[in-house]
Amino acid sequence: MLDPQKVRKDFPLLFADTGKQPLVYFDNAATTQKPEAVLQRLRRYYVEENANINRGAYDLAAKATDAYEHARQLVQSFIGARKTSEVIFTKGTTEAINFCATSFVRPRIKAGDEILISGMEHHANLVPWQVVCQQQQAQLKIIPVNDSGEVELSTYRDLLGPRTRFVALTHISNALGNVNPVQEMIQLAHALDVPVLLDAAQSIPHQSVNVQDIECDFLAFSGHKLYGPTGIGVLYAKSVWHPHMQPYQFGGDMIRMVSYENTTYNVPPHKFEAGTPNIAGAVGLGAAIQYINKIGMHNIQTHTEDLTAYARKQLAGIQDLQLIGSADHTSSIISFVFPDIHPHDVSSLLNEAGIAIRAGHHCTMPLMQRLGLPGTARVSFGMYNTKEEVDHLIHALLEVQEIFS
Ligand code: ALA
Repeated sequence: MLDPQKVRKDFPLLFADTGKQPLVYFDNAATTQKPEAVLQRLRRYYVEENANINRGAYDLAAKATDAYEHARQLVQSFIGARKTSEVIFTKGTTEAINFCATSFVRPRIKAGDEILISGMEHHANLVPWQVVCQQQQAQLKIIPVNDSGEVELSTYRDLLGPRTRFVALTHISNALGNVNPVQEMIQLAHALDVPVLLDAAQSIPHQSVNVQDIECDFLAFSGHKLYGPTGIGVLYAKSVWHPHMQPYQFGGDMIRMVSYENTTYNVPPHKFEAGTPNIAGAVGLGAAIQYINKIGMHNIQTHTEDLTAYARKQLAGIQDLQLIGSADHTSSIISFVFPDIHPHDVSSLLNEAGIAIRAGHHCTMPLMQRLGLPGTARVSFGMYNTKEEVDHLIHALLEVQEIFS
């Protein structure tokens, strides 16, 4: 069992003087706060281990390299990858998806081929595929969503065909919190030998994600949504695809031999990590994973799911408030609107009450268009949120309604 009051004490920012005490931080889908264990690990890295990796023959360089590669091992076991070489460090989810699009998908796509994505994708899992399709005269096909924002599985089955070359899907919608039936969708794609990328930015902080169980070919996620630092993320790439992936960037570390005539490349994952990476970020992400392991992912999931169910019930009791998205398969994200109050006004007034939420299109403009909404107000929970904070939100929302009545 997770005691959020105890967990909160590990997160210094939750007690910082923001001038609007107490801070209720409900924007965890955008980024999470960082526990002391991560902050201390970053400091220790810079105070005791900082050097460039894979280069120097001196002790400090070996220490930095060990710390970076240890972080890779922590990620490998966290996501259940078979090999450390399948873990490629990136800046975040966006870079991981762009990486896959440029390195793997673009070279294998020809005119008339098709890429499938769902109608609920974040722009980061839409625009890179749109651009690849434009570059290669291929077609981007959209798996439609129903009025609750759920993918239409039967249409997905129809859309999969002999010209489908790739499928890119979000595991959990960042805008609505809907959980996609990804295992089933991946199996359907694999039946036609079509590889699949999963955008796990919103699922990995919330539930155990095992790449061997899910059987995805690529998985993208960010460290900063996982209680780790910003500027670090991961592209998991199944090793069977490594020979088919071109380097994403070229430069130091990713080479074996360079002459003016030709260059040969290092082995994965180094082939895919040109230049000095975000060493401290990776080490910090490793510390975040250790912290999560200590708390227990199952405990985090149970706590945030309980909190979400509690909040949905309380929100549903507010007159005129409309919950957006499916109630059946939700995560720690809740989207809602009031008919006559703009979501930005809701978030500005909540800010006055010390409550941080996100409002707008959540980088999912086509989804908002499909649902006929200018945007939504979105609350998203982390392991440190409490029922008392939800009660505070409900009280503040009733006051917002009062102001507009
Ligand atoms: N993708 C992040 C969000 O949904 C930034 O808020």
